[in-house]
Amino acid sequence: MRLLIKNIKELFQVEETAGSSYKHPDVSLGGDSAGTKADTITDANDQAVSLGDLKTGTIETPVQSASSGEPCAGTEQFRDKVCGKDMANLPSIKDAFLLMEDGCIVAYGPMCDLSGTDVQADEVIDATGKYVLPAFCDSHTHLVYAGSREQEFVDKIKGLSYEEIARRGGGILNSALRLHETSEDELYDQALVRANEIIGMGTGAVEIKSGYGLNTGDELKMLRVIRRLKETTPLTIRATFLGAHAVPAAYKGRQSEYVDLIVNEMIPAVGQEGLAEFVDCFCDKGFFTCAETERILEAGARYGLRPKIHANELALSGGIQVGVKHNALSVDHLEFTEDAEIEALKGSVTMPTLLPGAAFFLGMKYPPARKMIDSGLPVALASDYNPGSSPSGNMKFILSLATIIMKLTPEEAVNAATLNSAYAMGISDSHGSIGTGKRANVLITKEIPSLWYLPYAYTSNLIDSVILGGKVVSRG
Ligand code: NIG
Ligand code: FE
Repeated sequence: MRLLIKNIKELFQVEETAGSSYKHPDVSLGGDSAGTKADTITDANDQAVSLGDLKTGTIETPVQSASSGEPCAGTEQFRDKVCGKDMANLPSIKDAFLLMEDGCIVAYGPMCDLSGTDVQADEVIDATGKYVLPAFCDSHTHLVYAGSREQEFVDKIKGLSYEEIARRGGGILNSALRLHETSEDELYDQALVRANEIIGMGTGAVEIKSGYGLNTGDELKMLRVIRRLKETTPLTIRATFLGAHAVPAAYKGRQSEYVDLIVNEMIPAVGQEGLAEFVDCFCDKGFFTCAETERILEAGARYGLRPKIHANELALSGGIQVGVKHNALSVDHLEFTEDAEIEALKGSVTMPTLLPGAAFFLGMKYPPARKMIDSGLPVALASDYNPGSSPSGNMKFILSLATIIMKLTPEEAVNAATLNSAYAMGISDSHGSIGTGKRANVLITKEIPSLWYLPYAYTSNLIDSVILGGKVVSRG
């Protein structure tokens, strides 16, 4: 299956080394595909051009099918993340084409370079007036949950804090109770609605956490639902075990025994069934301590689970330093971040991941994003889609919060929501930018005046189409 997007007003987040990727010796735009011939390619002046002369080689190692959401075989070395002042740079090609085949990006470049080629495709999309970006990567969600919690939303309006609600058995424990009473099939059905919702809003890769089970059976139930979403949706999904999300009611006053259960029973069960790639812990005031977090991360490491940590949402918890010490792929939230935390993150492999949707919804403070970037750090953005602190998976709105409130430029925000968020899921070799051999996950905007318009028009639906694994999965 070959899909060509032509006349793209501007193609963003291209890998610079592959700026005119049709020249790559392994890539051919020749006519040996089984597909039907594309409609006539036109140049910028709408003149029909001959497509005969741009064969530059043959595909010796065909890229692998990515229909299951797994990475394509990359053919080049790509940037794995963007840091500091480089985040202001979003490489692009104006008046561009993008060619995808069998789930992967096989060529892209300026439209004029298509002249004289014989491109064939099963489907051609004319993107005149529209922008193309990598589909959003959302590296932190809890989108498998049962029911909703708008009662607490109203309680918060009336003055209760997030921590007060949690102490009264609301919050995460409320979701745990609902999840316990919900069958695996029903849980899947509810989560599938949310998965399809985020696809329509331009997300192509997502991390999903457990953490509303809080006992072995229910945690496994959540992770099996995530596995089923992996198998049945075009999203690329990474799963995180978050047994240490809260202490369940049955263990009230016996927190260390609950940590024992996580370490001795839950993590081995998750590891043996291969249900997660990552391990997480809510390392914060009123939840889990640094010492407990370390125990959990060490147990996870025995099963190859890499840490991604909830840290410093409610206080200077020490969670950032614990994450860095254990080579966490990311530390997330970071509303409470001071100079010592920034210093700890410098030179580490750990991606600071910001979730402005939670600060917005809870009316709490935002992380010092500007200071982090100005200090040379990378940052990633994610939605934190969950029923309690961020009931939205709309990554375009996250771009708006990042720009309007945290003062990222639109270019920085897009870098944070694509390549850096892919890094925070361990998939930036195959996702988060436009490069030959990368998975063909892209979004096409509606006709808009500029890239800046995306975060600026903060409630407009500006996503026209979404292509995942080289197939159009949502058309606006
Ligand atoms: O990322 N901070 C902890 N966990 C979630 C909230 C979960 C909930 O309230 O249900 C978060 O914000
Ligand atoms: Fe979270």
